[in-house]
Amino acid sequence: MLVIRLVSGPAGPDALVLPVRPGGPDSPDSLISPDSTASLEPGLVPTAVPIGDDVRTEAAAVLPATRLTGAAGELREHLRPGGSPARLWLLGVGDGDERDWRTAGAALARAAKDETQITIALPGEATAALRGLAEGLLLGSYRFRLTEAGKRPALAEVAVLVDDPDALAGTLDAARATAETTRLARDLTNMPSSTKNPEWFAAQVAEAASGRPDLHLRVRGPEELAAEGFGGLLAVGGGSATGPRLVELDWRPEGARTHVVLVGKGITFDTGGISIKPVPAMKLMRKDMAGAAAVIAATLGAAELRLPVRVTTLAPLAENMVSGSAFRPGDVIRHYGGLTSESTNSDAEGRLVLADALAYAARELKPDLLIDLATLTGANAVALGKRHAALYSENDTLAAGLLDAITAAGERAWRMPLADDYVEYLASEIADLHSSPAQGAGSVVAALFLREFTGDLRDRWAHLDMSAPSWSDDTHGELVKGATGWGVRGLLRWLATLD
Ligand code: BES
Ligand code: MN
Ligand code: ZN
Repeated sequence: MLVIRLVSGPAGPDALVLPVRPGGPDSPDSLISPDSTASLEPGLVPTAVPIGDDVRTEAAAVLPATRLTGAAGELREHLRPGGSPARLWLLGVGDGDERDWRTAGAALARAAKDETQITIALPGEATAALRGLAEGLLLGSYRFRLTEAGKRPALAEVAVLVDDPDALAGTLDAARATAETTRLARDLTNMPSSTKNPEWFAAQVAEAASGRPDLHLRVRGPEELAAEGFGGLLAVGGGSATGPRLVELDWRPEGARTHVVLVGKGITFDTGGISIKPVPAMKLMRKDMAGAAAVIAATLGAAELRLPVRVTTLAPLAENMVSGSAFRPGDVIRHYGGLTSESTNSDAEGRLVLADALAYAARELKPDLLIDLATLTGANAVALGKRHAALYSENDTLAAGLLDAITAAGERAWRMPLADDYVEYLASEIADLHSSPAQGAGSVVAALFLREFTGDLRDRWAHLDMSAPSWSDDTHGELVKGATGWGVRGLLRWLATLD
C-alpha cells in the first residue's frame, strides 16, 4: 500500500502538488480586497510551508491558462524542464473541507499512476485536509486483481508538507486505519465465491485478528449452531457444501463503559435458493456478505485505533444454494430464542440469518446499542438510488448520531420509516411471523421483520440496508468500480463519538 509521510520540508525533486481553490465572493482574496476582480478567479491556496517564491510565481502565472475552476479533483500538470521540482501539479480542492480533499486525494492517486514519489503542500489548517487527502489517496488507489498480470506499477510514496508533522501524526493514523480496514472490507467483498465460502471467511477473520491478544474470536460451526438453536442460519446454509458459521469477534478495552453489538449479513453467495434468482439479479451476489465484511473491518479498526468502547461483532455466514438439502418455500424456521417464521421465498434469506444473530445479541450479550448492516433488499436502490443506504431506527438520537457520522465520513444514508401500517404484512397462519411478504415497501418490511427479534434492544437498535451503496458501477471520487467497503468509515466515526 501507498506510503504517506508527513514532512516539514524540503519538497522532493520530482512532482510538487499545489492546491487550487475556486474564486468567487467567498474566496479569501475577496475579503481582503472586495473590489478586486481577481477574487473571481481561482487561486493558489496559501500553504503552511512556504514553497520557493519563483515556483509560486510561476504556478500563479500559468494558472489562468490551465482553465482550472478549482473544483475538487481537477488536475493539471505543468512541466518545468531542468527545474526542481521538475513538474508542478495544480490540484483543485474545492471548498477545502474534508470531503473535497478526499475527492482531490483520490483524483491525485489515479493521475499519479506513472509517478513513484510526489510531494503535496497542505494549507496551515491541515487537520481536515490531511484526513481527507490521506483517505482519498489510499482508497482511490485501491485495486482488486487476482493475478499479477495487468497490475500497474503504483505510486509508492506521497510526502505531505505541513508545518508540524508531530501534531498531525494522530490524524494520519486515523485516516490510515480507516482506509486500511475499508480496503480489507473491499477485498473480502470483491473475492469470488468459489474461494469465499463461510469457512474461508471465518479463517480470514481469524488471520486478521491473530497477533492481537486484545481481540477475542469465537467461531461456531454447524454442530454448535444446531445445539444452540440457530435455526435461521442452519436453514439458509443447509443447501451448501460448506456449512454455515457464526463469527463472534470481541474488542473489549479495559474501562469501556458502552457496549455496542454490530451484526452484519454474511451470505457468501446468494443464488436465491429454491426461489432461484434470474441471471441478471444473481450476477453480483458474491457481494451479499458486504455487511459482514464492514462490521468485521470496523471492529478491527476500533481495535487498531484503541477506541474506548466495547464492540462485539456478529457475522452470521452462510451460502444460499440450490440443492437437495436446501430449505424450501413454505418451511417454518425456529430462530434463536424460539420465535418461528414461515418463509415462502428462499431468496429472503438475509433476514433469517440476521434474526438469529439479533435475538442472540439481545438475549445473551445484552449490549447498550445494537446496529446491523445488511445487503438486504433490492428495494433499497428502488427507493434511494445507488448511493444511499436506508437507515431504520425508533431512536432519534441514535439515528441522528449515525447519520452525522456516516455523512462526516464521506458516506451516505437516509432515514426511512418503520411504518406500523405494514406490520400486519408479517402475519402468518402457521408461524409467529411471515418472513417474505410481497405487498411492497420491501426494504421497510424487511426492517419491520428484523425488529421483531431485537427484544429489549428494540429502541436502542438501528438497521442499515446497504445493498445499494455496497457496490459501485463506476470509478468516482474515492470509490473504485466494485466493492466500496460501505459502512466501515461511518461506523468508525460513530464508534469514536461514544464513551
Ligand atoms: N441479497 C438480496 C438483496 C440484494 C438485491 C442485494 C440486489 C443487492 C442487490 C436479498 O437476499 C434478496 O434477495 N432480497 C429479496 C427479498 C424478497 C425476496 C422479499 C429482494 O430484495 O428482492
Ligand atoms: Mn436473497
Ligand atoms: Zn441476499
